[in-house]
Amino acid sequence: MKLVQAKDYDDMSRKAANLLAAQVVLRPESVLGLATGGTMLGLYGRLIEYYRQGDLDFGQVRTVNLDEYVGLQPTDAQSYAFYMRENLFDGINIRPEATHLPSGIAADVEAECAAYEALIQDLGGIDMQLLGLGPNGHIGFNEPADAFPVATHQIELSESTRQANARFFSRPEDVPTRAITMGIGTIMQARRIVLCVSGPAKAEALRRVMTGPVDPRVPGSVLQLHPQVTVIADREACSLLPNL
Ligand code: GLP
Repeated sequence: MKLVQAKDYDDMSRKAANLLAAQVVLRPESVLGLATGGTMLGLYGRLIEYYRQGDLDFGQVRTVNLDEYVGLQPTDAQSYAFYMRENLFDGINIRPEATHLPSGIAADVEAECAAYEALIQDLGGIDMQLLGLGPNGHIGFNEPADAFPVATHQIELSESTRQANARFFSRPEDVPTRAITMGIGTIMQARRIVLCVSGPAKAEALRRVMTGPVDPRVPGSVLQLHPQVTVIADREACSLLPNL
């Protein structure tokens, strides 16, 4: 894993946006794996700026998102589909039909998971996957578990994850209890991975991801086994890493 230390959130966002921008410049038809959460807002804002300045063209880009809550309509303001339109897709020239998220309202969730996995293969796999980190070490919605889940699947969200995400909902009880997420195997097949981490609340998780044993109870630790991972983390997130 290559660690790029950023000064603060803004610096992390700029560095990550530059890596994504380079990917799109070098391969305009890239398949980008995208993530949601507060961590990504700054970098998506930058990508919109680059597009508006005429520096980036998303006309041929395809995207697949990591995850979606089960039970939320794509029009629901808390759904990840809504987040992506609001914070990125509506601000750039990506073709709406080239953007993909798991459907949280599929009648047959298992079939939806299998179809999403097949879709990623059909697109030719993910060129660059963006990841944030949960305070409990989760990536996507792959929660701490006894084994690494391989493919896209449905997951019961942990209480700590529901609490961490409650800030986006008007009432804590509105946070869905389940989600569909790419599996660890899906993520690990991406050709390049960019993990963005910001703030003191993620410092312990980042320490365990980067320096602890590879352990499904810290799902992000599996990234140690991927040959092309760039971690962009700000000073606060790096505060518990040794020798920094
Ligand atoms: C959510 C998402 C993850 C995200 C994580 C961190 O649970 N499913 O993909 O990386 O939380 O979110 P934030 O960036 O808001 O801290």
